[in-house]
Amino acid sequence: MFGYPVEHTLSPAMHNAAIAALGLHYVYIPFSVPPDQIGPAIRSLVALGIIGVNLTIPHKERVLPYLDQIAPEAQALGAVNTVHNVESRLIGYNTDDRGFTEPLRAAGFSPQGKRAVVLGAGGAARAVTHRLARDGAQITLVNRTPERAQALADEVNRSVGREMVDWLHFAERTRLTDVMKGAQLLVNTTSVGMSPNYQAIPPIPLDALHPGLFVYDLIYRPQETRLLAAARAVGAQTLNGIAMLVHQGAAAFEIWTGTRPPLDVMEQAVLAGLER
Ligand code: ATR
Repeated sequence: MFGYPVEHTLSPAMHNAAIAALGLHYVYIPFSVPPDQIGPAIRSLVALGIIGVNLTIPHKERVLPYLDQIAPEAQALGAVNTVHNVESRLIGYNTDDRGFTEPLRAAGFSPQGKRAVVLGAGGAARAVTHRLARDGAQITLVNRTPERAQALADEVNRSVGREMVDWLHFAERTRLTDVMKGAQLLVNTTSVGMSPNYQAIPPIPLDALHPGLFVYDLIYRPQETRLLAAARAVGAQTLNGIAMLVHQGAAAFEIWTGTRPPLDVMEQAVLAGLER
């Protein structure tokens, strides 16, 4: 993995546990790569014979010019989180959207024809909104900075060729209440509520949470954010970010090794890492 910083990543524990469980001869190592070094760092895969890397903040967009080929979903997102070295050709993928959508489907939620509210308009919101729109959900983005929400809505609508996404500001309480009451899915992609600021909660009308709203918070530190606790209290189905972390990792593992890793082993490694 190349990131900056990488000190708190759970990915090495998760991948090395899967490698050990399968008896494969690989090792997964985090490298702290400063932003201006991503070019030489990524080309070093060829020189060193490294089979692949995950990319995290701030490299997902910057890496694109250094790759030989980019898979369609990564091209559409303009972001790569997984690189595979195939006979010295570097191929870029994005497994974040599979990581997001697979746990949702496993929990019995199909986005087709549903109404979704996505909090945030950053990199994570981008992967989520493209995926949900392509899967046929009608989406309202809610963001602190309206320009970012508008830009993302325009981008996704253009990409899918239909008006699937509109947007609101957190301050539009009445409209946001109506939208939430009519929605079946709420996704938090912001960092609000993430440790160490786990007391924080996204500024949404909490009285608009309802039992028919599936609340998916991409945060996994803490495992239950205040938003998820509030959702659970009204009887809503909830999901945290651990499943997404595991599924995006499993998809990358499969790209590199051709082998589907044991998801339960990866999840256990993540849970153990979170307790440390
Ligand atoms: P990521 O790649 O993880 O999505 P990002 O691109 O920095 O990270 O996006 C973070 C998102 O969280 C943004 O939507 C950001 O809102 P702005 O676009 O207004 O910056 C949102 N966010 C972060 N801190 C927030 C806060 N305290 N209140 C509301 N939104 C916040």
